[in-house]
Amino acid sequence: MYEVFEIGEPAVLRGLGPLFELDEVFAWIKRAHPPIGSAGAKVAALKRSWGLDVETPEAEGPDPGRPAEIYRDGAMILEPAPFLPGPEDHNFEAWVAKTHAALGGPFGMQAPGIECADFEALDRLQVLLGPTLAETGPRSYRYNAFVGDYPRTPFGFHVDPHQEAVFQYVIAGSRRAHFWQGLTLQRRDEAWVEDANGLVKPRTAPEHSFELEPGDLVFWPGTHVHGFEPNGPSMALSMVIDLGAPRERAEVVRALVVETVRGATALPAADDAGPVEMGMTLVRRPGARLAHARWEDSLIIAVRGRTFDWPDRSSMEAARKLLDDLAAIEGSVKVDAVVERHARGPLMAPEILEFLTALVSLGFARVD
Ligand SMILES: [Fe+2]
Repeated sequence: MYEVFEIGEPAVLRGLGPLFELDEVFAWIKRAHPPIGSAGAKVAALKRSWGLDVETPEAEGPDPGRPAEIYRDGAMILEPAPFLPGPEDHNFEAWVAKTHAALGGPFGMQAPGIECADFEALDRLQVLLGPTLAETGPRSYRYNAFVGDYPRTPFGFHVDPHQEAVFQYVIAGSRRAHFWQGLTLQRRDEAWVEDANGLVKPRTAPEHSFELEPGDLVFWPGTHVHGFEPNGPSMALSMVIDLGAPRERAEVVRALVVETVRGATALPAADDAGPVEMGMTLVRRPGARLAHARWEDSLIIAVRGRTFDWPDRSSMEAARKLLDDLAAIEGSVKVDAVVERHARGPLMAPEILEFLTALVSLGFARVD
């Protein structure tokens, strides 16, 4: 899974073996989104705000963070509770048929945050997303289950600007998936993107279309407009990684500062030692520590208690390898060797020399 994330284009992985079973995911949905309306909580809040002593309901269920949504054609049902599956719904397809009849036609349901159903659900999500999260740094992430018998994504071909990447595993029903690069969209695309009514045809054919069967896993990066056309009763489970970091930037910066001076101390002024050039040897200063962390879209670098952002997103991965290499130096290193090892693609010799100059001025090393 991590490999398709790194490549960054929509792609399908087939034959991964069953990652999830229909019955267990149906049970997670039921546990995370029980068919309880919102009126009870609102009435209790009203009474509390007027000073009445209201008992807090005991043993609240797990909290998925966001409510389930049910769509009928292009419209969202304001109160989905009567249509959500309950303990009496033992069979997924029977529930789809019952809900289809109750709503008078095809419907779609989105059930976010179902990793809160139990630790088995959460474990599986963390194992599957682990390698990707190791690269992105801490992010918010979740399952999002899509069920129903809708013939196309109820809210239209759309973009999710808050998402970094999605892996969607198909559990029941075949489906077609369509993807368009969103970074090249123009004003005239606004008519069809997010057209929940399905009235406007896409201006161009999708750049990627896949036929998906149960057991397939489709990946797309957050840059892509996407939508699905399922056949019959269907269940798909998305594993979503958001762009948002769970920590404030200031917290990440503070942790890096503490890590790179092993606490907190007063710092000398930056050394104005002139540029690092080919042929030089750098000697690591004894107390010098170097660290880095991803925060949302940036790579924050810390050198002996000072932090700055890596300036270029395209060379971020190469920069991380360079940083890890430099952090492992014991004693001295020849500039030529560093350049030879790391100069390729978007990170070339001038950028490396500029960075080494910054490291010297911030006290990581001195020029021999
Ligand atoms: Fe989406």
